Amino acid sequence: MAEREIVFLPDPVLRRKARKVTDFGKDTQQLINDMVETMRAAPGVGLAAPQVGISQKVIVIEFGDEEDEDAPLKLYIVINPEIIRASNEMVDAVEACLSVPGLVGDVERHECVVVKGVNRFGKPLKKKVRGWLARIFQHEVDHIDGIVFTDRAERVWKPEETEIYADV
Ligand code: NI
Repeated sequence: MAEREIVFLPDPVLRRKARKVTDFGKDTQQLINDMVETMRAAPGVGLAAPQVGISQKVIVIEFGDEEDEDAPLKLYIVINPEIIRASNEMVDAVEACLSVPGLVGDVERHECVVVKGVNRFGKPLKKKVRGWLARIFQHEVDHIDGIVFTDRAERVWKPEETEIYADV
């Protein structure tokens, strides 16, 4: 495994629609492993392939349970992710992004979404997620579509040093 370099705005790869993954061979497995390592090293709770300069539909997320601090972290790897259902209920929270250093913003997201895609070996998967996990999924799927959180933020600002937020 190897850590990869994270790219920042205004790198055009962050604005491109990523390509669908059709080959689940060695290169894709290596990319996934590297993305997990890069996310952990950052540290962040999610990463999309365009953030390491690769325009492919791959996202990785590692997140625990927002209601139980002692719950173990869970790793999610979704290839060709798509949000197929979203709740009408929206929630506002402060977001940040590893590719947009030094800025945070208020972003409204669906409280609950259903994500469809395939796992790292190409087997279909579907997940219903809510709360922060749903927010992270929406943020990463946006990266796949060339969208960054500042596009959706009602306002953005430079965070205070004491401000707590998660990078994705
Ligand atoms: Ni991000």
